[in-house]
Amino acid sequence: MTSTKDQTNILSSVSPSPSPYKRVMLKMSGEVLMGEKDFGLDSSTVERVSYDIKEAIDLGIEVCVVVGAGNIFRGVSGAADGMDRTTADYMGMLGIVMNALALQNALENMGVNTRVQSAIRMDSICEPYIRRKAIRHMAKGRVVIFAAGTGNPYFTTDTAAALRASEMNCDVIMKGTKVDGVYDCDPKVNPDANRYDKVSYIDVLTKDLRIMDATAISLARENDIPIVVFSVMEKGNFAKVACSQGHYTIVTNT
Ligand code: GTP
Repeated sequence: MTSTKDQTNILSSVSPSPSPYKRVMLKMSGEVLMGEKDFGLDSSTVERVSYDIKEAIDLGIEVCVVVGAGNIFRGVSGAADGMDRTTADYMGMLGIVMNALALQNALENMGVNTRVQSAIRMDSICEPYIRRKAIRHMAKGRVVIFAAGTGNPYFTTDTAAALRASEMNCDVIMKGTKVDGVYDCDPKVNPDANRYDKVSYIDVLTKDLRIMDATAISLARENDIPIVVFSVMEKGNFAKVACSQGHYTIVTNT
């Protein structure tokens, strides 16, 4: 696998972009979009996150996004409450589409061209997922937001992000969370918790570090796509970390 450092050298020789990554998959949980609220969308947070994405686009980075739906409906919780799991997961996928449209709206309000592509066809609302078309959109500087997960129940949005990142030949998956990386124990509970700068896919799986589910980690590993875990709660952090600055943890093969 080409190391991140090698990638930096290769890409910096062909691109003026300060980022080592040409094409980035941003994965965010739905909870990020609810800000301080207990449920739904917080418009100022959606706007702030969109502005963060715009900053990366302005640097010449191609960005695609997968967002979750935990702020609206969580399939796993629905199933735990006695709902049929498949039905609950489909409801979660519809929640993702709502988040995707909210992000699209906020991005376009600030002049960023976007396309929403859904894994489940709903042609009156957005485009269907077509890989080659998505790549073309990104090459034109449009943010492509992949909605409805993988389109299948029993798969998480983390897996959807790893799948789309693989299909789109993304250079990295940037997992935006509420903390600035991966710790050896919960930093909210233990003030002495240590953040890893770098960790291997295998360690993530064997130490059960819970960055993403095992399917997503395996898919990223098989396709040699590094995963960068960073705080998406900090304004401007997405572009900063995409340029390998600030705090984050990178998950790679080594
Ligand atoms: P290029 O012409 O290839 O640069 O891409 P484009 O997306 O600008 O062209 P296209 O004619 O495919 O789409 C024009 C507009 O229609 C865009 O806003 C698309 O998002 C939208 N659009 C395209 N296909 C669909 C669809 O199946 N459903 C919905 N709802 N919108 C679509």
